[in-house]
Amino acid sequence: MVNWNSLRREYMRAGLSEADTDADPFKLFEHWFNHALAADLPLPNAMALSTVSRDQQPSSRIVLLKGVDHGGFVFYTNYQSRKGRDIAANTNAALLFAWLALERQVRIEGRLSPVSAAESDAYFATRPLGSRIAAIASPQSGIVADRQALEALYDQAVLAHGETARRPAHWGGYRLLPTEIEFWQGRENRLHDRLVYRQTPQGWMRARLAP
Ligand SMILES: Cc1cc2nc3c(=O)[nH]c(=O)nc-3n(C[C@H](O)[C@H](O)[C@H](O)COP(=O)(O)O)c2cc1C
Repeated sequence: MVNWNSLRREYMRAGLSEADTDADPFKLFEHWFNHALAADLPLPNAMALSTVSRDQQPSSRIVLLKGVDHGGFVFYTNYQSRKGRDIAANTNAALLFAWLALERQVRIEGRLSPVSAAESDAYFATRPLGSRIAAIASPQSGIVADRQALEALYDQAVLAHGETARRPAHWGGYRLLPTEIEFWQGRENRLHDRLVYRQTPQGWMRARLAP
């Protein structure tokens, strides 16, 4: 039996004040991301991506942040996957970073668009050969008969593409352009700090939310 009460923790590590934070949420994100790197967190760039299907079913999965540029957050995936199909029907999406060892979370909402083919090509080329082959071979989110069938797909792709595995058109990046970014810092007595930045015609507006 799990003793749920024994899991209770006080959050004492840090505070988040308007005075100490930049008016630009990307600056604060970079600052926190650097903390996550310095703290040696496992997979600091892992984030939950939530999408919503054509029939309004939300779903979440972890993907890796591969860049923050052109005003957005970039990750790479298979455009024909379940998430790819969701995004084709509804570009609204959310990202969540859970840097739990730092008692922090960052929630991001906005719209997704594919990155350019040139950007996807450039990133694909940096992947190890085995990962490039797998991206070609794996019909992500499709049903495969068993492990053996999956490995057979991989072996076929090795034979077909060898050392020159180029990016298939169904694989590439998305960039989430945020309309809202919330930074959460755990505090004593559950009186946590929450600063939300919202995109407005006048630029980013910042507000404090009750915990
Ligand atoms: C640590 C971690 C990192 C992952 N990174 C990625 C990624 O960058 N891109 C990706 O497509 N899937 C990644 N995945 C796998 C996804 O969570 C998911 O299984 C896959 O994308 C299929 O999701 P879908 O069926 O909802 O489209 C990662 C999973 C984990 C646990």
